[in-house]
Amino acid sequence: MELIQRPRRLRGSDAVRRLCRETRMSPDSLIYPIFVDETLQGVRPIEALPGQNHYGLDSVYLAVEECLAAGVNHCILFGLPATKDPVGSSAWAEDGVVQQAIRAIKAKYPDFYVITDVCMCEYTDHGHCGILNGHEVDNDKTLEVLAKTALSHVQAGADMVAPSDMMDGRVAAIRAALDEHGYTGTPIMAYSAKYASAFYGPFRSAAGSAPSFGDRKGYQMDPHNGREALKECALDIEEGADIIMVKPALSYLDVIRACSEAYDVPMCAYQVSGEYAMIKATAAAGLIDEYRILCESAVSIFRAGANMLITYYAKELAEAIRKGDIG
Ligand code: PBG
Repeated sequence: MELIQRPRRLRGSDAVRRLCRETRMSPDSLIYPIFVDETLQGVRPIEALPGQNHYGLDSVYLAVEECLAAGVNHCILFGLPATKDPVGSSAWAEDGVVQQAIRAIKAKYPDFYVITDVCMCEYTDHGHCGILNGHEVDNDKTLEVLAKTALSHVQAGADMVAPSDMMDGRVAAIRAALDEHGYTGTPIMAYSAKYASAFYGPFRSAAGSAPSFGDRKGYQMDPHNGREALKECALDIEEGADIIMVKPALSYLDVIRACSEAYDVPMCAYQVSGEYAMIKATAAAGLIDEYRILCESAVSIFRAGANMLITYYAKELAEAIRKGDIG
């Protein structure tokens, strides 16, 4: 055979494969989710998310130390409050669980980057992501409490806020509240294209945030829609979002690709609890090689165009990147 083009030439050794990788990854692009439970002392494994823990306020620093040891320097915080009510007032309390957790982390590790998830579903007694009007989430009333919540996180020392509620206009409302109080330099990462997904199941069990009736289809996006994601990202950027996000990740690689090509802002992807749990369960059944699958999944998300990734596998991935197995 007289073949001029032989793509296999660039696959002949580990050295040449590593030379030619198109997708480059760094532990700097990884964000680890941390769950803090106000009622807990110490550390408790999360049943729905094997390998993940709930941390008490007295021990959240341990989660940070594990991240730092693995080379992960960014987290996103989720709170499980001691009390809930119809409007989720513990979400913006000065001594709320997330506010206390931020202070506890920053007291020990001021340079560890703390992003906070801004949403009402963990704090409302009905489990919806905002204030109800009958059985509907009232968009505009919810904006006020989201803005108050985001502001209180920043006042407690959060480096970045990430609204995950999918109300219309939340980025503008949060930007205005932060700016009004002088926090013009604090970035907003918007969960811009967040789908009404069954992949959040284990998270809702871990965060105690499942809706007590109905579902989130009235505010989160319909999985059938791709173009609508472009519109959601455009609106969030117009309103002042510094980073946009697509969530979940693996079933939405087309959306990650489209949004990352369309907009010149950093794009985050969230490999959610169900994606993680599927890998864990399949590996526990002996059906797949967990390490190779977690690596390949992350590579595919970055290849699709994500610039950063929120994942329960952040520590494992940082190690894999450092070893050169990926990235
Ligand atoms: C809060 C929120 C959810 C997730 C992140 N922020 C749950 C939901 O929207 O029901 C899901 C994260 C995951 O599944 O890992 N609204």
